[in-house]
Amino acid sequence: MTVANGTGLLQDAVRQGFGRLKDRVAIVTGSARGIGAATATAFAREGAQVVICDVMAEQGKEFAESLNDHYADGRPAAIFVPVDVTSANSVTNLVQQTLAAFGRLDILVNNAGITRDAQLRKMGEEEFDLVVDINLKGVYLCGQAAANQMLAQGHGGVILNAASIVGIDGNFGQTNYVATKSAVIGMTKVWARELGPKGIRVNAVAPGFIETPMTAKMPDHIYNKMVERTPLRRAGKPEDIANAYLWLASDEASFVNGEVIRVDGGIVIGT
Ligand SMILES: NC(=O)c1ccc[n+]([C@@H]2O[C@H](COP(=O)([O-])OP(=O)(O)OC[C@H]3O[C@@H](n4cnc5c(N)ncnc54)[C@H](O)[C@@H]3O)[C@@H](O)[C@H]2O)c1
Repeated sequence: MTVANGTGLLQDAVRQGFGRLKDRVAIVTGSARGIGAATATAFAREGAQVVICDVMAEQGKEFAESLNDHYADGRPAAIFVPVDVTSANSVTNLVQQTLAAFGRLDILVNNAGITRDAQLRKMGEEEFDLVVDINLKGVYLCGQAAANQMLAQGHGGVILNAASIVGIDGNFGQTNYVATKSAVIGMTKVWARELGPKGIRVNAVAPGFIETPMTAKMPDHIYNKMVERTPLRRAGKPEDIANAYLWLASDEASFVNGEVIRVDGGIVIGT
């Protein structure tokens, strides 16, 4: 017979989570990979049922299945729903599928986002529009659909938006991306005021330089420069950002609203 001792109980809790999101249902957009996948994993580990949704259907389905293999406890831990966050119909379907599978919606993480970098003088209109469509309009559409569902349910909720430190500080070569991330910070503050009285908290996370497929295409000399400018002397991991989302989504952050939290290793971006 194994006698449960303190250390054993702690190890189990770390492996299985502490149930910080028990009985919550969360949508994480753009969660087939990167920060979204790490966030969905942290949420499932903490007892949430998670909707993986992305334009990358194969990868998203496989990932949702792997979450079920690890975390399902008699009820599914995750489902996959294909979504294009730029389409209102697709976002409506996402919320409908969430309700059909899990019956409610408590948390939205507006994580889907892209970059199409170029200096202003060379930035094409198409690249500008595409980044605005996904990073800004997508956040508006998903935020609106989730807020309306949470308001209809009447027991509050949490909306978390993916900003970036460049949305606060600016960055060379990112006119389109920076414009969207600054706008996401603005929308976060508006929604915190509009939805706070109904018990829906809205916050943003501003990641620094994080190692994901999005930053993998970066040339070595820029990667090294980013690490040099980070006092912790490393790039962030998707889990570093997932932990911030997890805290903000949990009741531990029940008095945090309208905030933008930098998670960036102390990076100072140059000119
Ligand atoms: N990696 C970083 O250094 C960093 C820094 C600051 C902010 N961020 C932000 O964090 C978020 C996640 O970034 P990441 O590095 O994990 O990127 P990533 O490219 O690894 O993942 C983004 C996901 O969004 C999905 N996506 C793209 N367009 C979509 C659409 N129209 N509808 C639905 N899904 C779509 C992609 O398929 C992908 O799975 C983004 O909003 C990004 O701007 C990242």
